[in-house]
Amino acid sequence: MANPRRLLLLRPLAARLGQTVDYFWRAGPLACTRDQQHSSTHATHSNETRRLATMASSRMQSWFPHTAHPLVISAPMDFVTNPKLATEVTKAGGLGFLQGGRDFASESPVLGRLEAQLAQARSLLGLPANDGDLPVGVGFVLYAASARHFGATAAPILRRHRPAAVWLFAPAPDAPGTVPGAIRALKGKGGEGAAAAWRPRVAVQVGSVAAALAAARHGADVVVAQAADAGGHQFVGGAGLVSLVPEVADALARSGFAGVAVWAAGGIVDGRGVAAALTLGAEGAVLGTRYMVATESDAQDYKKEAVLATSDGGVNTVKSPLHDHILGNKSWPDAYDGRAIVSASWRDHLAGLPVEENVARFEAAKETGDFSRMITWSIPQLTSDRRPPLKSGTGVGLVREALPAAEITRQVREGALEAIGRLKASI
Ligand SMILES: Cc1cc2nc3c(=O)[nH]c(=O)nc-3n(C[C@H](O)[C@H](O)[C@H](O)COP(=O)(O)O)c2cc1C
Repeated sequence: MANPRRLLLLRPLAARLGQTVDYFWRAGPLACTRDQQHSSTHATHSNETRRLATMASSRMQSWFPHTAHPLVISAPMDFVTNPKLATEVTKAGGLGFLQGGRDFASESPVLGRLEAQLAQARSLLGLPANDGDLPVGVGFVLYAASARHFGATAAPILRRHRPAAVWLFAPAPDAPGTVPGAIRALKGKGGEGAAAAWRPRVAVQVGSVAAALAAARHGADVVVAQAADAGGHQFVGGAGLVSLVPEVADALARSGFAGVAVWAAGGIVDGRGVAAALTLGAEGAVLGTRYMVATESDAQDYKKEAVLATSDGGVNTVKSPLHDHILGNKSWPDAYDGRAIVSASWRDHLAGLPVEENVARFEAAKETGDFSRMITWSIPQLTSDRRPPLKSGTGVGLVREALPAAEITRQVREGALEAIGRLKASI
């Protein structure tokens, strides 16, 4: 029986998003039972699968009523995400994130762009301006000195547009007040009418157990446990997903923070990864690299092609501060480095080329359109089953993976439910 309260909650949202309540419901916790009725093996295990699904799902679906279980999240990625991508993820029952940038000055053009993007997202979802929260999230990178103005510059914009979640990442280590200050600004009172009632879920992306506990103490609703497998910027010291997520989950529970949810990020690409993340104690799975190649992504084609063409990522991607040195990103604190696809720059670095000369070669390559030295943030697992690029560019398998964001979201979610069902059936 469908839970009448859930149906009541979903009906208005479903109608606005152009879906039926049944769509959301079927894709949600009961999906295992209904979808698997044709299979006697699955039916045998449906109660258990449903129990597992409901256990992990109920809280996320009550926090984000438009979502289906398991919760699939598209990461807030600079130069990748945009209103179209984020809302397509949301429409498919996931949680799509925009990226609000790292410049919190009062006249910040990036914040101006964010304001426009939030309005666009609302319009793409067909939601009237004053009607409830916006079922997308916004991420921010906080290391810049201007992050101390977050409450004065970013928070009022968010309050006007009411995204359902806000994601904070990468505070400067010498500014320990940044994250608590931002959380206070987000959770404090302000505005009038709908803006005053707005209570976003605040997620803080962390790379260690200690940072997860600190985020919980500061009032985070979610800690995003970012493993060293992740594409893009991350913490210099990092563990793999399989140990980080359960240790974070255990530490939170032991320290009285069972109310804080864990989302897993890093190396999750398909349903199997999501199923693993749930098993490890996560209540949501964040995918970055997978959405980077979505058809709606703003990533340049050469980056998408590089991601699709690279295989054996443990060897062909590398986590290092070198990428920022090559790109001239001097602003990231030493506490962070990044994972990118191995390029000629990295190979030259290993061969002993001084960084300045490496940078000069990179700049020269950019001028000539030589992509061999470019930095493409990526993860190992994504490309393990892909062939090397064909010069003609006709790698059929590669094209198949550049899917629309909604399709990725559905595939990943359904793949997770199938993986859970398969596993259960095999025991
Ligand atoms: C191209 C790219 C850009 C990213 N940009 C950001 C960002 O602006 N802010 C942020 O919090 N995380 C960023 N990340 C990291 C993601 O939040 C997430 O931790 C990561 O993508 C998860 O690993 P995966 O790429 O293996 O899925 C980025 C990741 C990638 C691949």
